[in-house]
Amino acid sequence: MPTTINRRQLLKTGALLTGGLGLLPAFVHKALAHPPAEVFDPLRTWETDESVILSAPPDIKARLGANENPFGPSPKAKKAIQDTIGDSYRYPFMYSRELVTKIATFEGIQPMQILLGAGSSPLLLAAALYYSKDGGNIVTGDPSYEDLPEKAQQFKATIIKVPLTADYKLDLTAMEKAITADTKLVYICNPNNPTATALDTAALKAFCERVSAKVPIFIDEAYIDYLDDPKGASMMECVRKGQNVIIARTFSKLYGFAGLRVGYAVGPASVIRSMNQYTNAGMCLSSTSIQAANACYNDTEYLNDAKAKTMASKKFLYEVLEKEGYTWIPSAANFVMFPLKMEAPKFGMEMMKRGVMIRTWRFAGKDWCRISLGTMEEMEVFAKAFKEIS
Ligand SMILES: Cc1ncc(COP(=O)(O)O)c(C=O)c1O
Repeated sequence: MPTTINRRQLLKTGALLTGGLGLLPAFVHKALAHPPAEVFDPLRTWETDESVILSAPPDIKARLGANENPFGPSPKAKKAIQDTIGDSYRYPFMYSRELVTKIATFEGIQPMQILLGAGSSPLLLAAALYYSKDGGNIVTGDPSYEDLPEKAQQFKATIIKVPLTADYKLDLTAMEKAITADTKLVYICNPNNPTATALDTAALKAFCERVSAKVPIFIDEAYIDYLDDPKGASMMECVRKGQNVIIARTFSKLYGFAGLRVGYAVGPASVIRSMNQYTNAGMCLSSTSIQAANACYNDTEYLNDAKAKTMASKKFLYEVLEKEGYTWIPSAANFVMFPLKMEAPKFGMEMMKRGVMIRTWRFAGKDWCRISLGTMEEMEVFAKAFKEIS
């Protein structure tokens, strides 16, 4: 039985939530009320980043379950929030335009090729709705980030899931072969969540050039900032060349904005216009968040510092895993996937009991832990707990 609930099941829970808490099963009630670790749902059959966060006790010591940047936003972003909170009675259109102009200038594209969102999730949803409105299928990796394909499935599309390669990367050759006459979109998460593997840039560019002539490609670059050369590894060049490629970016990861909610999609102007029909055109972003994003966009000093600290946590984690006799998938992002020597639900529960929030998976015939890279203090809490139960 898979340890992760799929988003469809979660949506059912979400629908129940909006319909009233009274309809929720008892164990969800318990989890939402921040249970002590002993009553943490041991089957973890409904696990997502959100459910893990909601089920953690309030005094959690190491929050390593949702790939957040624990070093927080740049000081420039924090100052901008303080400086601009006073004018937050105003609609933020000027600031949105400023951010769009900055992104367009940096990426060498037109403002009309950019769509802002409160994080990238609303843009993934817009793409899911737009590309599934006439049915058909969405091709994606397995495992990969499930949000867009599953939202499309809840609407009218089916999902074609293509297993990863032996080294846990998206299998571009197999994904291309999986495309049918009914395929509406190919979803590529690069680096991939949950495996943290990155694709070879030249191979992905060639894939985009060839495949986008037949089917649109959606590249989710949520973790691209963690690569050594994000600009070089991005598929933005494909957009500049006019290919049918849509890119999602978010400030939620390296920029530390997961709670502030700023993201954007980039693509051909006609596609962005169509996707915009399924959003509220940036009306859900707050003025302070946009101004924070304006203040820290390409703040390389801050970004490099946060990245260096994340890499130090990664090195520490690799050493711990090695010492305990574990292997791992080499990570290109701010999280690491490693195979477990016990059942994933048990591992998740034992870690949670010790104040450590991680996520677990089952795929390729193994149980896995995905651990986000936290502060060194958090990694030490993990190391202590891990040594106790490994
Ligand atoms: C691959 C990927 N894409 C998109 C998102 C959505 O993030 P946000 O809505 O905060 O931008 C996430 C969040 O974890 C993610 O891992």
